Amino acid sequence: MIVVHTKKELDEQLAEWRQQGDHIALVPTMGNLHAGHVSLVELAREHSERAIVSIFVNPTQFGEGEDFEDYPRTLERDTRRLKQSAADLIFAPDVETMYPFGLKDATTISVPRITENFCGASRPGHFDGVTSVVARLIALVQPDTAFFGQKDYQQQLVIRHMCLDLNLPVTIMTGETVRDEDGLAMSSRNQYLTDVERANAPVLFRVLSAVGSDLQNGRRDFEALEAESISKLSDAGFDVDYFSIRRAQNLEIPDRDCDELVVLAAANLGKARLIDNTVVTI
Ligand code: PAF
Repeated sequence: MIVVHTKKELDEQLAEWRQQGDHIALVPTMGNLHAGHVSLVELAREHSERAIVSIFVNPTQFGEGEDFEDYPRTLERDTRRLKQSAADLIFAPDVETMYPFGLKDATTISVPRITENFCGASRPGHFDGVTSVVARLIALVQPDTAFFGQKDYQQQLVIRHMCLDLNLPVTIMTGETVRDEDGLAMSSRNQYLTDVERANAPVLFRVLSAVGSDLQNGRRDFEALEAESISKLSDAGFDVDYFSIRRAQNLEIPDRDCDELVVLAAANLGKARLIDNTVVTI
């Protein structure tokens, strides 16, 4: 496995692989890798001869007062971890490579509507930062396929929208959320949890799963289900940002007949912002 930092090094390696006719997959990450990222790499290699993992803590997707400075930068550990996986190359650029005109003069890509609610509402500007960096990564790597995790459900929809709208020649694929044994979705931010909070954290997935079963069993009183769940989570010590049942395809409000729903939640537990979801196909 190779680690490159510059566009020149990346281009040279890509040219060699393209000449051999290899399909190239990209797994964009911000590092501090866990089993969820590794499962995306394995999925990427099932679909392509080459898997590239980008590691870049993207400043433009963090709002003021968020954890950009504290976000764990663990390139050495990530490299060791990826050496054991099917990854072929790590692309770990610096800010100048990603934003050659500087952060102030950087082109921003902004997807409307689907970014307005949920994480987009709680973290203003976050999705503009995500789409702006993912578009740059796609332009640099020109992958055939790019892989994102289902845990960030809204993010993968926003990225799909951008790629379709801009006709970017890449296929977006979503990998299933990887969970700890007790159901907690793996996330780089779980390490902000204290031991007591960590023991409590799986309640989020338990509440989501219970709503998933209720929907499967025919309940359609969406607002009541949301309110019950928010109060269960608040009682368990979560500071709930949102808990919502929406159309899986576009996050619009569903009607009773909608047969593909997603239950989305974000809640703070101490310093950690946990997000998770469950998709319900009826
Ligand atoms: O999901 C993430 O880790 C980031 O939002 C992404 C897609 C790598 C863009 O920085």
